[in-house]
Amino acid sequence: MTTSTVSTRSLPPGPSSPKVVQTWRYWREPSTYVRQCHAKYGDRFTLHVWPFGTVVFLADRDDVKSLVRADPEVFQAGASNSFGAVVLGEKSVFVTDGEQHARSRALMMPAFHGKAVRDQVELMREITAANLAGWPVGREFRALPEMQAISLEVISRNVMGIDDPQLKADVQLSVRELVYNGSWFDLLPGQDRFPTLHPAAVRRRRLRARSDALLRWQIEAHRRDPHLDQRRDVLSMLLRASTEDGTAMPDDEICDQLITLLLAGHETTATGLAWCLERLVRNPEVLATAQAAADEDDDTYLDAVVKETLRARTVVPEIGRMLSRDADFAGYRIPAGTHLWPSIELLHESPESFPEPHEFRPERFLEKGAMADWIPFGIGNRRCLGATFAQVESRVVLKELLRRFEFATTDAPPEGPVRRHVTLVPDREATVTIRRLRTAA
Ligand code: HEM
Repeated sequence: MTTSTVSTRSLPPGPSSPKVVQTWRYWREPSTYVRQCHAKYGDRFTLHVWPFGTVVFLADRDDVKSLVRADPEVFQAGASNSFGAVVLGEKSVFVTDGEQHARSRALMMPAFHGKAVRDQVELMREITAANLAGWPVGREFRALPEMQAISLEVISRNVMGIDDPQLKADVQLSVRELVYNGSWFDLLPGQDRFPTLHPAAVRRRRLRARSDALLRWQIEAHRRDPHLDQRRDVLSMLLRASTEDGTAMPDDEICDQLITLLLAGHETTATGLAWCLERLVRNPEVLATAQAAADEDDDTYLDAVVKETLRARTVVPEIGRMLSRDADFAGYRIPAGTHLWPSIELLHESPESFPEPHEFRPERFLEKGAMADWIPFGIGNRRCLGATFAQVESRVVLKELLRRFEFATTDAPPEGPVRRHVTLVPDREATVTIRRLRTAA
């Protein structure tokens, strides 16, 4: 991590414009502003981004490798993600550090291993097939909301194990309200000190309390299920799991983790799938190859399409770490409280790691070594728990789509990224047209 030890606190260069301007440009001009700073200041630059404060952006692959090896007690991911605690809960695996994080992660991990995810493929396929039946043929439509409907259904059934249609509808509604009715006020620091006065805090507590009541109902229903030991959903695995000392996860923590999985798992995957369609209809040759792969059950090529999408159009643009004390990094003595954010999108555009980075070329992922600098799911001990789940789900959905529908290709300019919560979504929500149903359907 340390390239040299320096004694005075220092930061990489960055714009001298007022903090409010830097903040505004960061939030309002996703990708563009960060790229401009990269071109001007190089692979390490500093911005002031409200409500986080001082943020050092990193676009050098060696810096990212250093961060993987860095002490997680000093380079804290949970502290950097703490803005999420007001919705996800204080015990969420996303916002904790140290022992608490390690313990939760160890309990949740088995539910996301390859075999556990493979067991869920058939259910993912059924859910996708049922949803695709309602897609419009012969007219333009926005694919992102359709993808969200699929991924929310997948999460509700595969993660939460909800079969009861009314409970499922209630949980989905409350998740949608928690995610999509947020406002800028949700980011204001210190609002939980005045929880009964701040309108955003009041609304959020009400929504969270409703979600918790539904989740607790589901937890109890699972406990009463005589077949709990045979169930394959993530909640069942969490209820069965215990740490080495035999302590199971308490119910309030299970609620925090379930909310985290519901929120972290559905919007991200849906956004990746929307970008995938946006890319495919603008790359007719890739679309034709992917369609043939879907017909022939060639998962390798479809996986490469998913990977290339997540490289070329990053769903989550940065990974967050925050310093718990002053520390040396890349020749700087960086002050405590500073955030270090590896920029996934800048790293994915590096020609050294990905030759001709602006080409959409899934074939690059059929070659050996292509994955070394591919980090859409983050790094190290904080790498996305749902990385395998998301990729398998994306492939299953993509295969069903391509088997069923012939999409119209287009010369329209690429859709640009706009910010939605922590993700970058296509600005026209991946507007596409299905030309006709295929015989493979
Ligand atoms: C295309 C889809 C997805 C993308 C791009 C994505 C991306 C990410 C990223 C960048 C992180 C932060 C990693 C870091 O700090 O190094 C993360 C963390 C996380 N993701 Fe995902 N994710 C996706 C889908 C999912 C799914 C499907 C689930 C669960 C069902 C999930 C659950 C989580 C959890 C629990 C964490 C926190 C891990 C920790 O801090 O230990 N994600 N994800």
